Amino acid sequence: MVDGDWYQGIALAMPGVFERRRPFRGCADGGSIKFLGIDVGTGGTRALIIDEHGRVVASGSEEHVPFASPQLGWAEQHPHDWWRACGLAVQRALDALGASRDEIACVGFSGQMHGAVLLDARDEVVRPALIWCDQRTEPQVQELSDLFGVDRLIHLTCNAPLTNFTLTKLLWVRQNEPRNWERVAHVMLPKDYVRFQLTGERAIDMADASGTLLLDVAQRKWSSEVLSRTGIDQQLLPTLWESPEVCGRVSARGAEATGLRVGTPVVAGAGDQAAGAVGMGIVRPGTVSATIGTSGVVFAATDVPALDRKGRIHTFCHAIPGRWHVMGVTQAAGLSLRWFRDRFGAGLEDGRDPYERLCEEAAAAPPGCDGVFWAPYLMGERTPHCDPNARAALVGLSATHTRAHVIRAILEGVAFSLRDSFTIFREMNVPVDRIRLGGGGARSTLWRQIQADVYGHAVEVVQAEEGAAYGAAILAGTGAGNWRSVDEACDAVVQTAHEIQPNPKSSAILDGAYRTYRRIYPALHQISNPESADSTAQPAAASVS
Ligand code: XUL
Repeated sequence: MVDGDWYQGIALAMPGVFERRRPFRGCADGGSIKFLGIDVGTGGTRALIIDEHGRVVASGSEEHVPFASPQLGWAEQHPHDWWRACGLAVQRALDALGASRDEIACVGFSGQMHGAVLLDARDEVVRPALIWCDQRTEPQVQELSDLFGVDRLIHLTCNAPLTNFTLTKLLWVRQNEPRNWERVAHVMLPKDYVRFQLTGERAIDMADASGTLLLDVAQRKWSSEVLSRTGIDQQLLPTLWESPEVCGRVSARGAEATGLRVGTPVVAGAGDQAAGAVGMGIVRPGTVSATIGTSGVVFAATDVPALDRKGRIHTFCHAIPGRWHVMGVTQAAGLSLRWFRDRFGAGLEDGRDPYERLCEEAAAAPPGCDGVFWAPYLMGERTPHCDPNARAALVGLSATHTRAHVIRAILEGVAFSLRDSFTIFREMNVPVDRIRLGGGGARSTLWRQIQADVYGHAVEVVQAEEGAAYGAAILAGTGAGNWRSVDEACDAVVQTAHEIQPNPKSSAILDGAYRTYRRIYPALHQISNPESADSTAQPAAASVS
């Protein structure tokens, strides 16, 4: 089904919602219409309001309580905290708008993916959510591999089992906390829990559902085989929607908590990566994004579900009906720099952005860092190693190296890690014509240049580099009929602000450094797994050509 067909179908199915399709100009009081995107991230929730031309007119945010790590590798957050933060973020955005809240014509969501929110029959939270970066479920990954075989799972869901994926978290709770599991009546992903609080609807979009390992990604429906063989009742799961579809309306309770108007339509939205991609115009094959948030993601849109038989990258539904995407994920991208700031950044508290200061300091070190390398495996690694036990390392230090070398090595190491995904895309024949940068890696001048040099390709930064909340707002605007399709919206609103060319000299140095970087993981793997027979062998999942 193509985008346009889909749109017509929904319009017919939900006449109440789409009666205001084009022409749809202005609200009752003559003001202009606005769309709200809410991104339920890991560190905080952000609410962003755009006008009908896609211009950002207001925003508000609120931090979350940092995730708890009751044991090494565990990561948990309390869903109530996300809802608290959502209320404040939306109120702040509406206050900043300083105009009638009636101008918000539609709301879209994006959010951290893969988390398991468990509710009982009275919709009470059963236990804190196991979030995307939780690594405790290695035994469940092994069980799924044994039960299905990895090839069969890739056939059924387009993806290999990973500790991040929601299904493994459900199995962990069922096995380790049977009394909690007995109470579970509903399973949701993080943003969908917040939407449930706002609207009372249990809904999920195809893109976020792809990261559960319960979705038949190719057919865009829950996989009956995965559900039945793992004993997960489909009744536990929310209803599936395409991202720009209206799936609910703000309830009286939701309105009271946020200041939004009762009855405001809410679209399904998307997991943060697909929503972020929409915000950067990554909607058709050829244009690829490299986004450095807490995690780092290289993302390409595809017309068909493109598979990596080694399961090193994810193949998910895109936020566009009838389209898919592939993505490679570095677990600790921005998190690497944040870790350095938190542990060694004393003295950075002078009111300036600490990341800006760190990047300024890093600029004193040369490309290649005089032989210092950072392997960014602070939270295990997904692409290309699929190894929840991988550990980070600073390699190559001598007494002459400075803090600047270490910080620059972190910036380069994260870019090397993202380059691994580009390397796999090449193996899969996924076209890379243009690269757009997002997140913290797009904001720092130095990190942009490092990325251009490491990828050996020009990189672009878009004008509204506003992350997933912007994509969620575009999806809301599409659902409300301001644009006929996500493609049309992106063509209308996403513009390139800068293009950065690789520096040939630095690029050559970093190309050599990347080859050395590729030898670090096998050595680290050998240190963590001394029983491995062959010390030079690269673990199977790790190889990129
Ligand atoms: C994507 C992923 C992260 C989280 C947190 O697969 O795990 O993007 O959604 O942002």
